[in-house]
Amino acid sequence: AEGFDVVGIDALTDYYDVSLKESRHAILQQSNHFKAHIVNIEDFGAISEVFEDTKPEAVVHLAAQAGVRYSLENPRAYIDTNITGTFNVMECARAHDVSHLLMASTSSVYGANEEMPFTETEKADTPLTIYAATKKANEMMGHSYAHLWNLPVTMFRFFTVYGPYGRPDMALFKFTKGIIEGTPIEIYNNGDMWRDFTYVEDLVRGIRLLVDAVPIRPESAATIPEGDSLSPAAPFRVVNIGNSDKVRLSDFVEAIEQEIGKPAIRNYLEMQKGDVPATWADASLLQRLTGFRPQTDVREGVRRFVAWYREYYSV
Ligand SMILES: NC(=O)c1ccc[n+]([C@@H]2O[C@H](COP(=O)([O-])OP(=O)(O)OC[C@H]3O[C@@H](n4cnc5c(N)ncnc54)[C@H](O)[C@@H]3O)[C@@H](O)[C@H]2O)c1
Repeated sequence: AEGFDVVGIDALTDYYDVSLKESRHAILQQSNHFKAHIVNIEDFGAISEVFEDTKPEAVVHLAAQAGVRYSLENPRAYIDTNITGTFNVMECARAHDVSHLLMASTSSVYGANEEMPFTETEKADTPLTIYAATKKANEMMGHSYAHLWNLPVTMFRFFTVYGPYGRPDMALFKFTKGIIEGTPIEIYNNGDMWRDFTYVEDLVRGIRLLVDAVPIRPESAATIPEGDSLSPAAPFRVVNIGNSDKVRLSDFVEAIEQEIGKPAIRNYLEMQKGDVPATWADASLLQRLTGFRPQTDVREGVRRFVAWYREYYSV
């Protein structure tokens, strides 16, 4: 909409319903400014060609094997896509002198940290799953490339992103489906889990604004402002994108029930291996860098998701 040409790379992997990915793709393809490549980032030759054709100014790398729980089942997929694939993207960004590389990390890197809300300047060295470990590794790989090749790198740490067209393996999708279909929904730790839910449109706005907030080389920074995560050794920064509000899982379920107008059948389960009891973002760095702060209230976000779900699946 701002007149940039956007080139997308996605392998449309079958981790979940591919037709949902194709529907998103169809929306993007309505724009004359969008071009799609169905390419796997693990294939260095193939993505090198896309970079060669495109010569991108900025790269936003979101492709990943996502999902915390699936990483216990199939850890290799995370190594292949998140480590090898991300390395390939970084190599292409370096070879083409990209002016800013932005890559998705996750609030899961805060792992066993207990100090809340999570801030970017605190240590995040205790990942609890291979998913989190691969994302933490991406942050470190990004730092080394920023240092070695003077490649400005921003790492986003996303906090539980939800909204229309969202992933079917995430709680909102599963709860909405279960309540509408009248099947039991699984609630972990008796609903005593807390998440900082971030509405997808807020996330996209944050990403767009951060594209312009290029991290500077440390020697060009007179001083690193208090609370900035800018590295002293590289043009590299980590930024939380979250709503800065934590919501109890049981309240989240109630919001969905109210929106659908039907009670859930609750199946309470213990906390799952690798799960963290709470996430909560300090999003003040994002606000200082961009003037923007995600603010969509969870009830409003749930309302928009349920409306989308009913229309998309005609239920
Ligand atoms: N949704 C969240 O709550 C959340 C939270 C933290 C971080 N993240 C991160 O945000 C990013 C986007 O996540 P999402 O929730 O939209 O998940 P998603 O699975 O919908 O999006 C990831 C996309 O990457 C593509 N992909 C997977 N492997 C690929 C490969 N090898 N080559 C090319 N494309 C490949 C998939 O087809 C998919 O379209 C990911 O990096 C994820 O780890 C998401």
